[in-house]
Amino acid sequence: MRILSGIQPSGSLHLGNYFGMMKPALELQAHGEAYLFIADYHSMTSVFDAAERRRNTLDVALDFLACGLEPKRAVFFRQSDVPEVTELTWILSSLTPMGLLERCHSYKDKISKGIPIHHGLFAYPVLMAADILIYDSNIVPVGKDQKQHVEVTRDIAVKFNEAYGTTFVLPEPQIRDATAVVPGVDGDKMSKSLNNTIPIFGQEAALRKKIMSIVMDSRSPQEPKPDADKNLALQLLKLVAPAEVAAEFERRLREGGLGYGDLKKTLFEHYWNSFAGPRARRAELAGHLDYVHQVLREGAAKARATAQVVLRRARLACGLD
Ligand code: ADP
Ligand code: TRP
Repeated sequence: MRILSGIQPSGSLHLGNYFGMMKPALELQAHGEAYLFIADYHSMTSVFDAAERRRNTLDVALDFLACGLEPKRAVFFRQSDVPEVTELTWILSSLTPMGLLERCHSYKDKISKGIPIHHGLFAYPVLMAADILIYDSNIVPVGKDQKQHVEVTRDIAVKFNEAYGTTFVLPEPQIRDATAVVPGVDGDKMSKSLNNTIPIFGQEAALRKKIMSIVMDSRSPQEPKPDADKNLALQLLKLVAPAEVAAEFERRLREGGLGYGDLKKTLFEHYWNSFAGPRARRAELAGHLDYVHQVLREGAAKARATAQVVLRRARLACGLD
């Protein structure tokens, strides 16, 4: 079984990324061959500063390694170190109906917000399809917002297979119900673009402030809260604290008597402690950047070898070779 997922170097890793994609992907390392990559080509659609891209790319590498990526098990690489993926993007583009891309939520959201659209944003799902298909991926662990892109990938693969004979493996998205959409501090989906994230790494005081800024209603502590499961701090506590601790706080919210400030303080403690290991590993890795670059170089060589085999298969199928 081959598992594949990627993340753009477009900002700091947050709880949504971690629970929606990174943790599930890292857990799958033990169950198959994981290909995990830094989607720097995709970041071209939103980051327009070279130094920022380089810095973010290194940050994602540190994040993945600190959170448990094992270079001996997983193939870890930078998307742009495998330029074959852009050739496959063109081949797939030529079979991709415009309507398929016009229906994509992420593209429609940008249009509805009046964000100026360029061709890269429109074609983004085709590059993502090439990412997935060029490694014969079976399982793609992602958050819910990426589900449609994996479905588009399947549609494009089917079109190619029908036109030129079976060439590509059809991938399945893997989405965990409990973490499909992690909420941000304002209750909307946690997202870098919405400025409502709780980062995984950073300065303690700033992160504490973020958690204390989670939006609550104005009910008094004494009032019972029968809708406790809708409380944002409690939802996040369920992710970072043992189940019995979260259940106890849910009970106290329901009964009344628990102040939101105390709930948030507890959330901060569990959140902070649960990432103590990754935080220490990240600090250590930051002092060994040669090692980090070496991991990415070795990952790129392995990924490229796989990509070349699949691209050759596709070129033969469609008459380019
Ligand atoms: P962002 O929306 O913050 O820009 P990305 O698009 O870089 O995040 O997402 C990287 C990965 O993290 C994707 O697999 C995405 O589905 C997942 N993800 C992002 N935000 C969330 C969230 N709030 N809940 C669950 N998964 C998420
Ligand atoms: N589009 C994904 C995101 O923003 C990142 C990504 C690029 C990806 N290529 C991929 C994820 C292939 C899974 C598989 O989160």
